Amino acid sequence: MLQRPRRNRKSAVIRDMIQENHLSAANLIFPLFIVEGHQQKTEVSSMPGIFRYSIDNLLREVESCLNIGLKAFDLFPNIEESLKDKYASVSHQKGNLYLRAIEQVKKNFPEACIVTDVAMDPYSSDGHDGIVENGEILNDETLEILGKMALAHAEAGADIIAPSDMMDGRIGYIRELLDTHGFKQVSLMSYTAKYASAFYGPFRDALNSAPKAGDKKTYQMNPANSREALIEAQLDMEEGADFLMVKPGLPYLDIIKLLHDNFDLPIAAYNVSGEYAMLKAAIRNGWLDEERSIMETLLSFRRAGATSILTYHAKEVLEKGWLKA
Ligand code: PBG
Repeated sequence: MLQRPRRNRKSAVIRDMIQENHLSAANLIFPLFIVEGHQQKTEVSSMPGIFRYSIDNLLREVESCLNIGLKAFDLFPNIEESLKDKYASVSHQKGNLYLRAIEQVKKNFPEACIVTDVAMDPYSSDGHDGIVENGEILNDETLEILGKMALAHAEAGADIIAPSDMMDGRIGYIRELLDTHGFKQVSLMSYTAKYASAFYGPFRDALNSAPKAGDKKTYQMNPANSREALIEAQLDMEEGADFLMVKPGLPYLDIIKLLHDNFDLPIAAYNVSGEYAMLKAAIRNGWLDEERSIMETLLSFRRAGATSILTYHAKEVLEKGWLKA
């Protein structure tokens, strides 16, 4: 045998020398849930180790993350049921929980990179990402609301706005609105290929944001399809997206790779709530090794071609010292 691939695996030094992909703190974006009140920190039951924070505690959490080198955060609000309506009016109301959270974080920690989520669901009495009329999700009417949300986020200091709603044309609509209001430097991370997935369950528990009727299949993509992702990516690129995101992550590594190979924009992967819940449940039962299963998962996103990884594991990876120098 002239070729013996095992020679390149014979020692740790050689294995490290030829390692193709690495994970670093710079790749990680930490999603954080926020809730109204003071001194609140309540665990999401289906996501052990993940909490909903009131703004005072959110600031403490962000500070402790910054201290260990985690610098990017994606915020999601838990809104009281009584504040929700058909048009998600509170989503762009001055002084709402979300806008106060963005402002406070940016005021106290200007170096923190804040990603904000644009979609109606946390504020919608229907629990949908768009306006519902006679069981239908209205696309163009929804754009107006998304636009108002995005502008409010930009005014509050968002660094990156991430539309997660899957309405057609929203990237172009929001880009133009931001530009005409002087927010040319605010980035757009598009949820480009967002699938109608069962893996969002724990997130919807965290925000109490599940659809009251029906499902999201007329706007989120069919898990059986991959070529459709190319159409979405093409449109997002033409409409001015700065990042293309694939969501969920682990069951869609092929889509991450597909977009990586066909587009030159940075690719983000969302390692969603259900993926986190799944690993944690197995780890808690002693069925999987914690560090190895989490690190292997995160590295798989890098191998598939993602530069940014939105993951609930972000803090523990740094806190527990799992990143190699
Ligand atoms: C809202 C939104 C969802 C997630 C991020 N933004 C849920 C959904 O579309 O129902 C899911 C994130 C996760 O599961 O971790 N549009």
